[in-house]
Amino acid sequence: MSLTQPRDSGSDGPARKITAQTLAERKRNGEPITALTAYDYPSARLVDEAGIDVLLVGDSLGMTVLGYADTLPVTVDEMLHHTRAVRRAVRSSLLVADMPFGSYQVSEEEAVRNAVRFVKEAGAEAVKIEGGANRSALVDRLTRAEIPVVGHIGLTPQSVHRMGGYRVQGRTFAAAEVLRADAAAIEAAGAIALVLEGVPREVAAAITRDISIPTIGIGAGPDCDGQILVFNDLFGLTFSPAAKFVRRYGDAGELMRQGIARYLEDVTTRAFPSDAESYHLPTAVREEIEAIDRVPTRSA
Ligand code: KIV
Repeated sequence: MSLTQPRDSGSDGPARKITAQTLAERKRNGEPITALTAYDYPSARLVDEAGIDVLLVGDSLGMTVLGYADTLPVTVDEMLHHTRAVRRAVRSSLLVADMPFGSYQVSEEEAVRNAVRFVKEAGAEAVKIEGGANRSALVDRLTRAEIPVVGHIGLTPQSVHRMGGYRVQGRTFAAAEVLRADAAAIEAAGAIALVLEGVPREVAAAITRDISIPTIGIGAGPDCDGQILVFNDLFGLTFSPAAKFVRRYGDAGELMRQGIARYLEDVTTRAFPSDAESYHLPTAVREEIEAIDRVPTRSA
């Protein structure tokens, strides 16, 4: 089936729907959880159809697809727009949407109102918020409002100014203990999973042992219950050097660069489009037009 066809027109059979319960089951059984970000319909279809468990519409889209310098300017409306596009593509992955900076920091009421929008207007099945013990009351409130929450601790990009840059967190004994306490608070508040970003492998392993909800790591080593990467990093669709933890699985950027250069050349030299790539009139109509073209006009 072509990527341009709407999702419902396909004949592919039902895939198993991934839920919060599936993730819990995976942790119990020691089965790795797979997660990727996606930001639009085609990328979401590829991720979903490949059988990835969790599809996150990350606010990283601010940098990867909107061209912002960091995630801070991303708005709720921008996130909703992308989440809706992803929703139209997803059948089996658990669809998680990131709440952007400013949408949950002002008050719990506003946070719940914004989170409800992600579920109601964009079809998200869970929301992700950054922060540890300082967000546990909010995680509890959202959970009681029937909105599943994924936590996110360690290197939390929305705290870039407080952290003084994108730095690995939890590198001292005391800082590691704070992260362990944060993880415990998020679990106790009812989160369904916890993203661990930019923390030493040993700290991520300890947190993964400490808590009963699944941990999903990015730059947190191999001992987490699952792994997540940013779609654009996976395929070289970025314009800055990749972080240490990124493994590249293809160079779509280079493929596209080469394709665009060939297209440019073909259009410039009139090699594209060919006659075979053109529509044609039915023979009878063509002959009629050609006959008219042959009739001299009065002024001729
Ligand atoms: O926004 C994002 O893509 C994320 C992942 C890196 C976990 O939060």
